Amino acid sequence: MSQSYLMPTYNRQPISFVRGQGSWLYTADDTPYLDALTGIAVCGLGHCQPDITRAIQEQAATLVHTSNLYGIDWQERAGESLCIAAGMDNVFFANSGAEANEAALKLARLFAHNKGLKRPKVIVMEKSFHGRTLLTVSATANPKAREGFFTLDDDFIRVPFGDVAAIEQAAKDHEDICAIFLEPIQGEGGLNTAANGFDFLDEVAALCDSHDWLYMLDEVQTGNGRTGKPFAYQYSQSKPDVLTTAKGLGNGFPVGACMVRGRAASLFSAGSHGSTYGGTPLASRVVHTVYELLTGDVMANAVREGDFIRQALTDELGAQGVSSRGAGMMIGIVLPETADCSALVDIARDEQKLIINITGNHVVRLLPTLNIQRNESEQIAERLINTIRSANIL
Ligand SMILES: Cc1ncc(COP(=O)(O)O)c(C=O)c1O
Repeated sequence: MSQSYLMPTYNRQPISFVRGQGSWLYTADDTPYLDALTGIAVCGLGHCQPDITRAIQEQAATLVHTSNLYGIDWQERAGESLCIAAGMDNVFFANSGAEANEAALKLARLFAHNKGLKRPKVIVMEKSFHGRTLLTVSATANPKAREGFFTLDDDFIRVPFGDVAAIEQAAKDHEDICAIFLEPIQGEGGLNTAANGFDFLDEVAALCDSHDWLYMLDEVQTGNGRTGKPFAYQYSQSKPDVLTTAKGLGNGFPVGACMVRGRAASLFSAGSHGSTYGGTPLASRVVHTVYELLTGDVMANAVREGDFIRQALTDELGAQGVSSRGAGMMIGIVLPETADCSALVDIARDEQKLIINITGNHVVRLLPTLNIQRNESEQIAERLINTIRSANIL
């Protein structure tokens, strides 16, 4: 095609796929590529998972959309399975991660309003990513995403990820703080984990308790089994007031969710928030099916295979300064900061037929399927080692 009518919002790679199956993507000439990215943590149960395909086909032939003006049985059922897995009370269904996060940030404002705060502020983290709507991009740290949009900077206070002292200092410096919003593991910002791991979440929860702030987690990327638990916060001892998710929630079907618990559950009322498409019978049936498939065995597999891939990489390249971080199937292979990683994605794709991504300049991000088979994990490790060797950057 000579001319594209699409807005140039993406630097697209010179490849496109026409079909997918499990951990594999295929080009038009039927060349298989091993997908270690799954649409950026979306198709966790594999491309075209047969039960999900069947659910979509059956529901598309039965009822796609009515309206949230009416009862939607599949939405009730999806809400029940999601809230039980997440340990939350209620859910609002949206269509994307940004929309789910927009709902969370609106909840924080309502919470502040009810407390009589005049200029509410939410504490967010450096290197965070929360989406592209005006409020969520204002919460996002990435300068490239924010540039030129007159972001709502007075509404957020930014602290280093994992830095409790900085949060305590913010509490002293600012009056109208109403919430903290963070990712348990930062996906877009570099696959960052806090120095004390998930204990950081407990420290944040305790601070929220003592200051009467809402404790809000963005699990758009870490949720739905990605880290080996339904939600990554379940590795900690505390529970958020507000929890958002998307990506793996629909295994490729666009859907997002904002969940609430306890004091956050009574903030929205009829008319205070809504969405034409949120929680259609079709989207909800997909969510329900995803949660039927997301068994303890699948999540145990994600942990086992994630550990295997990390171990294989560090066994082979650890002596040359390569380390790993993450949890379950959210894997960061950390190369030395001096390594020039600019060619890795192309080498992996063109020479090794492996789909990967680089985040934070020197971290190879792997987000493979949760139900991957051992021989596929072996191939991811082998193809990535070959890629790094071929780039000659260590
Ligand atoms: C942690 C996190 N929050 C929010 C989003 C935005 O989600 P969406 O692109 O579905 O709006 C993303 C997307 O990468 C994400 O990783």
